[in-house]
Amino acid sequence: MTFEMKKIQVSGKAELYQELLSQARGLLHDEYDLVANAANFSSLLYHSLPDLNWVGFYFMQDGGLVVGPFQGKPACVRIALGKGVCGTAAKTRETQVVPDVNQFPGHIFCDGDSLSELVVPLVRHGELLGVLDLDSPKLARFDQEDKEGLEALAQAFLRSLS
Ligand code: SME
Repeated sequence: MTFEMKKIQVSGKAELYQELLSQARGLLHDEYDLVANAANFSSLLYHSLPDLNWVGFYFMQDGGLVVGPFQGKPACVRIALGKGVCGTAAKTRETQVVPDVNQFPGHIFCDGDSLSELVVPLVRHGELLGVLDLDSPKLARFDQEDKEGLEALAQAFLRSLS
């Protein structure tokens, strides 16, 4: 497989997410390995979306979350269900958009640079596989368009596994 990361020239967020979705499908379509696709997917997002300091996965293992492939500084390894932003997304199975991590009760600090965060739960065939986590050094980095764009990207990631 050959894949070249294109420089993305777009006029707005909606177009950026459309372009990223098509790049993600191209990147993942002929592979189904979980670690390989999670690693490439994190890299694609990290290098294509502005103002991020951490992008990656936590996967469910033994009833809790364990860090998976990511881009950014070393991170907390295990997060219990219901704890922090990741554990909350996992427990509620709802995307968490946190404009200011300092205002989120129980937020888990992995990288002191992170000021806002978005976490998408990954549900596959009704089962919680894990979460996709994005951190930003900017306050209120993520809005509704990011939420919808990243949920669509997470679906493309999940579809690549089957
Ligand atoms: N801040 C997260 C922990 C994971 S790191 O951001 C990579 C949380 O509160 O769950």
